[in-house]
Amino acid sequence: MQQRLTQMKQDALAALAQVNDAQALQDLRVKYLGKKGELTEILRGMGGLSAEERPVVGQLVNEVRAAVEEAIGAKQEEFEQAELTAKLASQSVDVTLPGRPLKSGTMHPLSRIIEEMEDIFIGLGYEVAEGPEVELDQYNFEMLNLPKDHPARDMQDSFYITEEILLRTHTSPVQARTMLAKEGKTPVKIICPGKVYRRDDDDATHSHQFTQIEGLVVGKGIKMSDLKGTLLTFAKQMFGPEQQIRLRPSFFPFTEPSTEVDIQCILCHGNGCRVCKQTGWIEILGGGMVHPRVLEMAGYNPQEVSGFAFGVGVERIAMLKYGVEDIRNFYTNDVRFLRQFNRT
Ligand code: DAH
Repeated sequence: MQQRLTQMKQDALAALAQVNDAQALQDLRVKYLGKKGELTEILRGMGGLSAEERPVVGQLVNEVRAAVEEAIGAKQEEFEQAELTAKLASQSVDVTLPGRPLKSGTMHPLSRIIEEMEDIFIGLGYEVAEGPEVELDQYNFEMLNLPKDHPARDMQDSFYITEEILLRTHTSPVQARTMLAKEGKTPVKIICPGKVYRRDDDDATHSHQFTQIEGLVVGKGIKMSDLKGTLLTFAKQMFGPEQQIRLRPSFFPFTEPSTEVDIQCILCHGNGCRVCKQTGWIEILGGGMVHPRVLEMAGYNPQEVSGFAFGVGVERIAMLKYGVEDIRNFYTNDVRFLRQFNRT
């Protein structure tokens, strides 16, 4: 019997060494260790052994079983490993494949200009103010020295909601609102970006809704030269250190004196081209010294303080800076246009 066991162990280990698939391994397990397997059969036959032989054979049986179980376990692990490796290989990711690009939005060109202008003016010590787009006639016109029936109201065709309420035609009403909120205190140093509305027929250079940035400084001894220096600094930061500006006399009811400000044409650098209509200059904003009546109505004594103000057209700046020829591009939301303004 001992010999048979030893032989069986050898056969089993030899057979296991040959096995190379999970089913064959299972068959061998049944053949040797199963209920009707060879080892069980030997155990059953142990009843006929003598008392001396029994423990010896019993120990041998256990040894054989342990050896066979161990060999089966090792094989099984080997198969599982192989299966896992095969699975990993079949499911592996090729990291060299180009990825699918995520669709990301870009910043609107007008928002970019506003942000750039805010950065410039915050750098000069300004705060950013806000005001409502649906505005009272009182702030939009009256407190800016444009009483009812003043002919200069015609300069700004308005969308009226009621007799007294309209869509603001410019960001200038924020001047009055800011000064009133300051209750006579100085200094006032704000810019206010925002949408404005006018009854205009839309074409390449006109839009019934557009964007302005208002600037206002009030304090002791503020002079026209402060306005000029501020606007020159702004122009150089926005368009480059070589940029020049030119002030032309103009008229606004809320400033005295008033000026329109041109930058040297950024396309032809002053030589004259189609964009600047051969003049070499392009108008970008209006401004001037805050009218004494405007200061007075907002609670300031024009004998003690003075101020300057200006209003910039954001679309105009964006068109010049990015070479956009039609203002409607900013509002029609064509992604082919908008995608060109990556945030880089
Ligand atoms: N509000 C004017 C406009 O929309 C622009 C302007 C001119 C604003 C002179 C000002 C200013 O603050 O002082 O045409």
